[in-house]
Amino acid sequence: MSEAAPTNPVPADLRPITVPIVRERKSGPKLTMVTAYDHPSASIASAAGIDMILVGDSVANAVHGFEKTLSATVDLMVIHAAAVTRAKPHSLVVVDMPWLSYHVTVEDAVRNAGRLVAEGGAEAVKLEGGSNRVEVIEAIVAAEIPVMGHLGLTPQSVNAMGGYKVQGKAIEDAQQMIADAKALEEAGVFSIVLEGVPDVLGEAITEAVDVPTIGIGAGDGTDGQVLVFHDVLGLGGGRYPKFVRSYADLRADAVDALQRYAADVQSGAFPSEAETYHVRDEVARMLADGGALSDSSQPSSSPSA
Ligand code: KIV
Repeated sequence: MSEAAPTNPVPADLRPITVPIVRERKSGPKLTMVTAYDHPSASIASAAGIDMILVGDSVANAVHGFEKTLSATVDLMVIHAAAVTRAKPHSLVVVDMPWLSYHVTVEDAVRNAGRLVAEGGAEAVKLEGGSNRVEVIEAIVAAEIPVMGHLGLTPQSVNAMGGYKVQGKAIEDAQQMIADAKALEEAGVFSIVLEGVPDVLGEAITEAVDVPTIGIGAGDGTDGQVLVFHDVLGLGGGRYPKFVRSYADLRADAVDALQRYAADVQSGAFPSEAETYHVRDEVARMLADGGALSDSSQPSSSPSA
């Protein structure tokens, strides 16, 4: 256990973060967001003072071991969103709309966004895409559900993009993405995630719109940053993308802790006296003598300290 003072003390002022507060933060301070998929991770993110929790469809990869986010469903997102919101984090909870939950009809999209709010407790939803999503975004916003946009390397388009590739490197693509960001803003999004784009494009989009941009692999010119919980804490155990910085190696810590537990079980060092329930001496003696009970000496069944 380190003796050093914590480098990120929990802020005293943990007032709930709302959509209007996020919008105001266009002028700073920078916004922080991490993914969280369950009660303990949401509680940890909130205690750390993180502004926004994203119940990302990356839950499909990070938690369920799927290869692509395309395996996430509305039912799955509702379960994880509800686990997160039961932790009552001060952070704004944004929930991803999974693939195909907003691609078929506008009515479907509003109903699915509504399920994330009504059943999952989402305070906002996020969906991927640019100008092609304007109609859907307008309808969801009209239903009083705040929407976060997502441009650049959009994992739900992995098959169409031919892999997880940095987007917007060619001038026409970059110009299209700036136009898409403006279209999303016009449609009513309260912020936009920019994923896997060159730093200059991240900066150009941030300057082009009045809503905050949240970058992931988009350089340091955005209004905030988002990372996956398991990546920041080193829980993944695999190779991380170039843009990830891990601030801990919790997988190694967890393996070490479980190895020490197993060794203590094998050696008899666990459990100790202090970790064991006891009964009164006379009952203990009787049990040691074979457990025969006389009528006058019925033991209490509840354990004593
Ligand atoms: O699902 C997710 O984790 C995301 C982030 C990468 C922004 O959408």
